[in-house]
Amino acid sequence: MAGMFGTLNRNLRPTLKRVQLLSVLRNTPWSHEVQIRACAAAAATFQLREGYLVLNYGVTPMYFNYVWLRDHCHSASSYNAATNQRNVDTGSIDLSIRPDKAAVEDGHLVLTWPGGHVSKHSLSWLAKNSYERTKDCTIQPRILWNSDIYKKANIQSAKWDTFMSCDDELKKFLQNYLLYGIAFVDNVPATVEATEAVTQRVSVIRETTYGRMWSFTSDFSRGDTAYSQLALDRHTDTSYFQEPCGIQVFHCLKHEGTGGRTLLVDGFYAAEKLCQQSPKSFELLAHVPIKHEYIENTDNHKNHMIGIGPVLNVYPWNKEIYLIRYNNYDRSVINTVPHDTVQRWYVAHRELTTELRRPENELWVNLTPGKVIFIDNWRVLHGRESFTGLRQLCGCYLTREDILSTARCFGLQA
Ligand SMILES: [Fe+2]
Repeated sequence: MAGMFGTLNRNLRPTLKRVQLLSVLRNTPWSHEVQIRACAAAAATFQLREGYLVLNYGVTPMYFNYVWLRDHCHSASSYNAATNQRNVDTGSIDLSIRPDKAAVEDGHLVLTWPGGHVSKHSLSWLAKNSYERTKDCTIQPRILWNSDIYKKANIQSAKWDTFMSCDDELKKFLQNYLLYGIAFVDNVPATVEATEAVTQRVSVIRETTYGRMWSFTSDFSRGDTAYSQLALDRHTDTSYFQEPCGIQVFHCLKHEGTGGRTLLVDGFYAAEKLCQQSPKSFELLAHVPIKHEYIENTDNHKNHMIGIGPVLNVYPWNKEIYLIRYNNYDRSVINTVPHDTVQRWYVAHRELTTELRRPENELWVNLTPGKVIFIDNWRVLHGRESFTGLRQLCGCYLTREDILSTARCFGLQA
């Protein structure tokens, strides 16, 4: 995993405009090779093998299973282009299907299936959607940061007025949020209502046991340390949900006292360091399932929640980390692995903790009235120093799907 992900949208080869069949090289039933030449230099060749097709179009050969090729057919009867939904009944495809004929014509792989159905896949679409390409790409480009990197990037906060009315400002905000996992809006009126309005611009509020918008004072009104004046070590929230909340929003409406700065740590930066220094520990934290648990038993609130998943959640095909669960307060009994693995897990957890606690990885922010912060709760850990006096915070959780959807609709990679 690279320390800094640039934009990974690779330029695909231009679609072949005109191709010529050059030769059929072999005659055996499952070894049928055809070479095609475009008017430009780009050339494509393919071979039909038993159960799959090999496409050479670009540097790396791509392998396509025959059932997959039939399942992903974009003909009018197989796919509804108006709704972007599959029409073909995958459950009815012969699992030993193979094309009767194959050719490349006008930049497309044309397959004729038994019974006469024809599938046309554009070469660029195949290249874009091959496993071989996908495994070399990240789903979401990110810039991993420590305090220095983030400060030097000099990211500007969005401003309330333009943020609420101008889509370009929202797009810039979303790009920053996607790259860094945190983003700010300044000059927001210091009210719960305005905070709610600014969040609606970004995503959908995820209502939890804490309500829709919560207003947070140090009154111990809930059975959680967050409702006190105590310092809070870095952590992710709602690790005890099977799907932790995607976005955390904070707005300090009022503080008459001292202390209370917010601590932010890029969990993916720390995980990346661990991956470089101790790949086996990284692997272990990515595979050992851990329980997080929240038990609340006050007069007004009774909750018992359990979320189960590894500390590091990684896409298996490209090793990209997409979710960190790190909450030492809420981590529950470890009883899902044998004792020797437990020892190795504690070593790995210590190594990750060491990275997360390095002072140079800590970004301290003074949240003042008017400044709303959005935190990617799947990536960036938060904490706070202890404080004195009355401090009123409000905020909410937002769904992850909707912010990513908004970003994609702006053409951003998410
Ligand atoms: Fe928290």
